[in-house]
Amino acid sequence: MDLFDLTGKVAIITGSSRGIGRAIAEAYADAGAKVVISSRKQQACEEVANAVNATHGEERAIAIAASISDKAMLQTLVSETRRRFGKIDILVCNAASNPYYGPMAGITDEQFRKIFDNNVLANHWLINMVVPEMIERENGAIVIVSSIGGLIGSDVIGAYNVSKAADFQLVRNLAIEFGRHNVRVNAIAPGVIRTDFAKALWEDPEAEAALNRVTPLGRIGEPDEIAGAAVFLASKAGAYVTGQGIVVDGGTTIRGGL
Ligand SMILES: NC(=O)c1ccc[n+]([C@@H]2O[C@H](COP(=O)([O-])OP(=O)(O)OC[C@H]3O[C@@H](n4cnc5c(N)ncnc54)[C@H](OP(=O)(O)O)[C@@H]3O)[C@@H](O)[C@H]2O)c1
Repeated sequence: MDLFDLTGKVAIITGSSRGIGRAIAEAYADAGAKVVISSRKQQACEEVANAVNATHGEERAIAIAASISDKAMLQTLVSETRRRFGKIDILVCNAASNPYYGPMAGITDEQFRKIFDNNVLANHWLINMVVPEMIERENGAIVIVSSIGGLIGSDVIGAYNVSKAADFQLVRNLAIEFGRHNVRVNAIAPGVIRTDFAKALWEDPEAEAALNRVTPLGRIGEPDEIAGAAVFLASKAGAYVTGQGIVVDGGTTIRGGL
């Protein structure tokens, strides 16, 4: 399994106190990486870091809270990671926001800006904070957790989908900028995954049954089913992959019926 080995690598994963981010952090630690657990709540991050360390019997995880809305906190996340783990090899921009459901006509400017600030601008900030050392070492992997929402239209989560489409473009641009330095930038596009973020889509059994009907695999996804793609993109297995968006959605988008 050398292709997927992350021994000695250091990874920051935003939004890793639960859901998809936690599953990615756990999978990275299982693959040998040291992981930085981050979300807005230090206590929640410490619980995850403690669980990871208990599993591996050594300090494989640390907890550093940071809101992705706050540039200074993101800088502290990066500098604290360097101070405690020495470097950053892998960055996963996973945390995101969606404060609005409804037609585009009803979204406030503040909500629209919040979506863009958290889902696009914060990724740009964080990537540019970590990438100089990756360029210097001629080695780095950056993963943005986008969404199949960025590939399809919606009359309910339109601004969120525009932001997730922008993430696909961000990885394409940065893959070109950083490619010569062996820094790869990719996106993962999950379908509906059973997390708090998507609760409105699955907590009602009828809504979940409707999703199951339009999903070729016949069910919504679980957080750890996104983690494999994140390990692939961060490891030697993904060494020649850059600028891509990997769809992990049980086949929903190829059916075209979400
Ligand atoms: N679930 C799905 O169906 C689905 C589908 C497609 C794409 N996605 C994408 O997957 C990513 C993860 O979503 P998820 O479903 O795993 O969500 P989740 O289970 O609700 O977890 C979200 C994580 O992000 C953290 N977070 C939220 N706002 C933050 C902020 N402003 N600053 C820092 N951390 C913040 C949360 O912790 P705190 O609350 O403690 O900050 C938590 O750790 C998002 O980019 C989402 O757009 C999800």
